Amino acid sequence: MKIIRTANYEEMSTKAAQFMLDRIQTNPELKLGLATGGTPKGVYKKLIEDHNQNNTTYKNILTFNLDEYIGIDSSNPNSYHFFMKEQLFDHIDIPSSQTYLPNGTTKDLLEECSRYEDLLNKVGGIDLQLLGIGENGHIGFNEPGTPFDSTTHLIELEENTRQANARFFDSIDEVPTHAITMGIASIMASKEILLLASGEAKAEAISKLINGEIDESFPASALKRHENVTIIADEEALKLL
Ligand code: GLP
Repeated sequence: MKIIRTANYEEMSTKAAQFMLDRIQTNPELKLGLATGGTPKGVYKKLIEDHNQNNTTYKNILTFNLDEYIGIDSSNPNSYHFFMKEQLFDHIDIPSSQTYLPNGTTKDLLEECSRYEDLLNKVGGIDLQLLGIGENGHIGFNEPGTPFDSTTHLIELEENTRQANARFFDSIDEVPTHAITMGIASIMASKEILLLASGEAKAEAISKLINGEIDESFPASALKRHENVTIIADEEALKLL
C-alpha cells in the first residue's frame, strides 16, 4: 500500500481529486466506485471546481456507490442517493442513467443485492474505487466480522457506526439499523483502490490498517492483499504510525 501524507483535509482533498482526474482523463469510460461520508466531500468539491474550470467530462463515466441505507427513500436528504446528487452528480455532466447505487427501499432486498453484484460484473468491474474508513475499520458498510469473500449483501450496522453517522440525522433514532453494501470481495475486485482518511478520529484505524494483522475482525485489513492501493491521509490520521 502506498501512503501519501498531506498536511490537512484540504490538501488530502486536492491530492485525491488530482489522482482521480488523472484516471478519468486517461480513460473517459472509467468505471468509478464512489463513497459517501464526510471524508470525500472535499474531493467532490474539487472535482466540481475542475469540471467548471477545465470542462473535464463525465459523459461516458459510470459510477457505482458502495452502499445505501435500508428504508430511506432516495428523496430523503439522508439517503446516499440524495447525498451523491447534492455533493457531485447534479454539478457535473454525468447522465443520471450512469450513476448506480444499491436500492435500499425495494421489496426484495436479497434480489437487489444480486442485481447490484451482477451489474458490477456485467460492466467488467470497477477501475478505481474510492474508499473512506470507519473508526472500527469498516469499508463501505462492511462491519467487523464480515467475511472477506462477501459480495453485495445486507448488514446490520454496529451501534458505534450508527452513532458516528448520527451527526447527519436529527437524532440517533432516525439512523437506520441496516444497510446494503458492496462486500469485501466486490471491493477487492476493483482494479485500483484509493482510500482517504482525515482527522484524529481515524488515527487508530489507520495505524491498525498499516501495522495490524490481516483479519476479518478488521475489514479494511483485506486491502493489504490488494496489489494497487493508495492511501491519502492527513497528519492527524497518520499520527499513530
Ligand atoms: C460510513 C460509510 C463509509 C464511510 C465511513 C466513514 O458509514 N458507509 O463508506 O467511509 O462511514 O465516514 P466518514 O467519512 O464520515 O468518516
